[in-house]
Amino acid sequence: MKLLVTGGAGFIGSNFIRYILRTRPGVSVINLDKLTYAGNLENLAGVENHPRYSFTRGDICDRRLVSEIFSRGVDAVVNFAAESHVDRSIMDASPFVETNVRGTQVLLDVAMECWRERLPVQGPGPAGRFPVFVQVSTDEVYGSLGPEGRFTEESPLKPSSPYSASKAAADLLALAYHRTHGLPVIVTRCSNNYGPYQFPEKLIPLMITNALEDQPLPVYGDGLNVRDWLHVEDHCRALELVLFRGRPGEVYNIGGHGERTNLEVVRAILKLLGRPESLIRYVNDRPGHDRRYAIDPSKITRELGWRPRHTFEEGLAATVEWYRQNRPWWERVKSGEYKDYYTKMYGESLR
Ligand code: NAD
Ligand code: DAU
Repeated sequence: MKLLVTGGAGFIGSNFIRYILRTRPGVSVINLDKLTYAGNLENLAGVENHPRYSFTRGDICDRRLVSEIFSRGVDAVVNFAAESHVDRSIMDASPFVETNVRGTQVLLDVAMECWRERLPVQGPGPAGRFPVFVQVSTDEVYGSLGPEGRFTEESPLKPSSPYSASKAAADLLALAYHRTHGLPVIVTRCSNNYGPYQFPEKLIPLMITNALEDQPLPVYGDGLNVRDWLHVEDHCRALELVLFRGRPGEVYNIGGHGERTNLEVVRAILKLLGRPESLIRYVNDRPGHDRRYAIDPSKITRELGWRPRHTFEEGLAATVEWYRQNRPWWERVKSGEYKDYYTKMYGESLR
């Protein structure tokens, strides 16, 4: 089976590629990644020469390139490629609309064109399973919760940020291609991930690396916003199940029963690292800051038997340890040196 993974040099995409190469001997992976600031080929160090892996640097908005890749015989797509950071979308929404919306549309169009002969899919069972297109989305499309309740797949879409609005637009496009054209699309909506190789602009790696450098830890507002944390490996396993067994046309929520306030997370990190709480700095709140996310994952548990394996306490401790052990990785990210890895491998400059 030939799997196109887009955005595979980012945090979740690189973890997913490592995971799928390890668990699925019948799967070959093509990684298409533009290598924006968030794409880092060091996340895939050691995988470059794997016989079932290849990398193409390019943009999912480039229809010609995407068609060329599909002509290599792509059986399935997992679309991770996106601008993913809420704060950046507040500064400038343009790349978010371009990649998250138009890029997804290009992938859907090319999939339609190249898979025409193979549609409709025959349904479950290995022979009739593919092609399939998995759109990796986010719980942020549902907007903000009050103190009670959890997001189900039926919750209304009420995105708050330009990032989440662009992801909601992409979800709706993907589902519309299923409804109108019969394209076998599945949408997943996951809560906040954490784990190895996460870019240190996001809460957990930023706080760990700042604490390791005895730098201030900026907490937005009162620090009482709640996120529902999921270890990235649990997300990868959920995506594998959806890819091989999910029902086309469906949405699956993925969440780890891991609700914590930001302050709880930051304090836990400081404790694990033996650093003082005096490093915490309360700073201005994020505009439009969603108060609480919480996922009801009962559909994916019921239909596909998925359950998170990592508790937040154990997963966070392992993640803190990973950042402690992999200091050169995040120091190169913070200094910008990580871009030289691509130059070393492919001879072209990213700077
Ligand atoms: P990331 O920012 O770490 O990685 C994104 C990757 O996409 C990078 O490698 C980047 O180079 C690549 N990319 C960006 N624009 C591209 C383009 N036009 N063409 C090709 N490649 C491009 O993101 P992440 O945290 O790994 O998130 C991956 C996906 O999962 C995103 O779609 C995001 O919306 C979704 N998601 C993330 C989380 C989370 O907590 N991180 C939770 C739920 C869903
Ligand atoms: O819920 C899934 C989403 O989780 C994904 O779709 C996004 O791609 C991913 O970036 C993440 O979005 P958040 O905005 O929730 O993640 P972030 O790490 O930016 O922030 C988590 C919480 O921490 C949020 O309440 C804002 C707060 N925060 C964040 C940063 C970077 C701080 O208090 N200080 C900070 O410096």
